[in-house]
Amino acid sequence: MAERAVAPVSSGQISTIVENLGRVVHAPDETLRLIVLCLVAEGHAIIEDFPGVGKTMLAKALARSLDCHFSRLQFTPDLLPSDVTGVNVFNQRQNEFEFRPGPVFANLLLVDEVNRASPKTQAALLECMEERQVSVDGVTYPLEPPFMVMATQNPIEYEGTYPLPEAQLDRFTMRLSLGYPPLAEEARMLDEQTSAPPLESLLPVADAADVLRLVEAARCVYVEESLGRYVVALLRQTRGDPRLYLGASPRAGIALLRVAKARALAEGRDYVAPDDVKAVAAPVLAHRLILAPEARSAALSAEELVADALARTPVPV
Ligand SMILES: Nc1ncnc2c1ncn2[C@@H]1O[C@H](COP(=O)(O)OP(=O)(O)O)[C@@H](O)[C@H]1O
Ligand SMILES: [Mg+2]
Repeated sequence: MAERAVAPVSSGQISTIVENLGRVVHAPDETLRLIVLCLVAEGHAIIEDFPGVGKTMLAKALARSLDCHFSRLQFTPDLLPSDVTGVNVFNQRQNEFEFRPGPVFANLLLVDEVNRASPKTQAALLECMEERQVSVDGVTYPLEPPFMVMATQNPIEYEGTYPLPEAQLDRFTMRLSLGYPPLAEEARMLDEQTSAPPLESLLPVADAADVLRLVEAARCVYVEESLGRYVVALLRQTRGDPRLYLGASPRAGIALLRVAKARALAEGRDYVAPDDVKAVAAPVLAHRLILAPEARSAALSAEELVADALARTPVPV
């Protein structure tokens, strides 16, 4: 990839994509920016929120903004792992098996209601996410980059669902929620949706090659040694917190640094600053933490404990 003749990457490209999302999704700019940073950080996102707040809309808007291969899967209890990955089917004419790729072979995959499929199917998806490849009957097929999964989950619905265990949530780079839009925006959204839905006229502002260039540029963002130690100190702060039953893993640290690098790039910097880490720590870390029962009954949230860990970790100067 390094040998390719590339157009210079501009941090403006990230804002262009974010602005494009903002044309159709009524959500705070910060949320829209985070989903784009997740893409640039080669991550996967879980969007957890109530029904009808624009989760699917956000995923579709991102797919439309990027001229690349999009597919969508609705998770249901009867969905099989092969419905995600693909299967070998027998071709009678050629008298041999051939691989028919599943929906996971896409640049952007929207998995709606990820907690509705059986753990076996969830595990198949999570394996593809982590390995960026699919293995069927002993043959491995790589997933073309960019590859990002946006999974949605409904926080109030537990009946008949299979909540993802923490070990699997850890594989999502970040968890986002959209929330209800402010009054004026919601009124505008209702008007748009009932007259001329803006998604239908949304145009792409980047393609897969642009995304790969951004990914490469983010990888090259410089991380000073003291900054690396700052991230580790932050992780340890969560591990040492008695209010947490489970703190942040090394995998969480990798995700945090990747997203911080993407944010530095978006800010037009070629090095990571402590503010990059602080700004993305909650969406990257909170969903991986398990609160101790006392903290739970004190109605503390994982986000608050991340904020606390940030406040206690000395910032390198
Ligand atoms: N924040 C929002 N911004 C834009 N459209 C929204 C928003 N919230 C809801 N909608 C509209 O409401 C409908 C349902 O949204 P959808 O994305 O399917 O919800 P979800 O996937 O969260 O259940 C769509 O027509 C969508 O355009
Ligand atoms: Mg939906």
